[in-house]
Amino acid sequence: MSPLPILFIHGFPLDRTMWRHQIAAPALSPWKCIAPDLRGFGALSARAPSNGWSMAGYADDLIQVLDSLKIREAVVCGLSMGGYILFELLRRHSSRVRAAILCNTKAAADSPDAKRDRDAMAALAQRAGATAVAVQLLPKLLARATLAAEPQVAAEVREIIQRAPVPGIVGALHALRDRADSTPLLGSIRVPVLVVAGDDDQIAPAAGMEEMARAIPHARFVCIPKAGHLTPFEQPNATNMVLADFVAGLR
Ligand code: MLT
Repeated sequence: MSPLPILFIHGFPLDRTMWRHQIAAPALSPWKCIAPDLRGFGALSARAPSNGWSMAGYADDLIQVLDSLKIREAVVCGLSMGGYILFELLRRHSSRVRAAILCNTKAAADSPDAKRDRDAMAALAQRAGATAVAVQLLPKLLARATLAAEPQVAAEVREIIQRAPVPGIVGALHALRDRADSTPLLGSIRVPVLVVAGDDDQIAPAAGMEEMARAIPHARFVCIPKAGHLTPFEQPNATNMVLADFVAGLR
């Protein structure tokens, strides 16, 4: 039997390169690791959807990626917005998800205040470009330890955000603002689930992620030290060990 593929879904407003430490990891080399860009980012920056931006649209795009690679089912690992898309995959295409890895994400929809913040950020992106978005987001994305001691990690994340195209940023913000509440889904998830948190994540705090894991039958919860919202990028070795252990244990 060929090994299970792992499909990695990036967060906002990043691109496939945020998974570069996983794609290159010896610990994950037994599996075929796939990390596509989402519509509007990276290589797919020119592709606007004809029917509006949504988590469902991103999920359907990823099914096309799996189809084009002739992959029937995959372990799916989503970070933050990638996790929201993974919830959508579980709702719309559950037979394609062999197991789920939820990194630095949450199930709840945006509050009215958070929706207003999405619109404000979309206006900022349109007025001042991706660089202004990077200035606002960077301190929230990374752990204090990363910001203090790993300037090259901060510089790389800043660069990824700065090259994100404004239409992709604005489209994703609309999809984030309008996404469904996935809390009711949690209790009905039947595939194996790993929940990975960062101990200094300001956007999806570890305590909330642990609570989310408790609501999913048989989910495993791991909190990685000295990690913020981008745990796999900030602490790749620790994260890769946890991912490899989880995938190796799937039957
Ligand atoms: C992400 O990393 O994808 C974003 O932080 C998601 C969000 O803002 O809800």
